[in-house]
Amino acid sequence: MAYYWPDFVEECKHCQSCELSKTRKNVVVFRGSVEAPLMIVGEGPGASEDEQGLPFVGQAGRLLNLLFEGYGFTSDDYHICNIVKCRPPENRVPTPSEAKSCMPLLAKQVRFVKPKVIVLMGKTAYKYFTGSDEAIGKVRGQFFEKNNYLIFPTFHPAFILRNNNHRMTLWQDIGHVREKMEALNLIPSLSEKPEMPEGRG
Ligand code: URA
Repeated sequence: MAYYWPDFVEECKHCQSCELSKTRKNVVVFRGSVEAPLMIVGEGPGASEDEQGLPFVGQAGRLLNLLFEGYGFTSDDYHICNIVKCRPPENRVPTPSEAKSCMPLLAKQVRFVKPKVIVLMGKTAYKYFTGSDEAIGKVRGQFFEKNNYLIFPTFHPAFILRNNNHRMTLWQDIGHVREKMEALNLIPSLSEKPEMPEGRG
């Protein structure tokens, strides 16, 4: 039988593969486009995301929107999701076993969306996507290729909310992503170089 995107979303909503399914209010699958050239992967839903069933709609999400919109990205250009689709209680980091339980769904999601570029935001996204425990500060800011995807690790926006001195680094990283996507003709070129937006979004 054919299996389409709405079937995938239903499968996610019914998932009980780990303990997080017992405490969640909503399963958080994605926001943006299902046909986007760019996938953005975070860690896991927080309280606002759990309430609304959408990723990155709290404080970190507002900063993420501000910076991506600053570069002219629209919700047609990206597909945002997380390593785990259910909120870890108290916003703790997902355990290796929770991340592992959720990985088959994320792998299916990547195969559905077929992004060209995948931005990994923060250590958790990097760790479970690559299997490497390296600090994000060491590996961020460089593209590498894996299974025909161009992968780009960078800081998580929640880290920038706590360490605003690294804001320019995240801004420039997103600029590199924009440049690469323009060079690959995945999005139109910007006529002017944008200025980094101030504020928290
Ligand atoms: N932080 C994340 O990593 N993901 C979200 O969806 C929200 C905050």
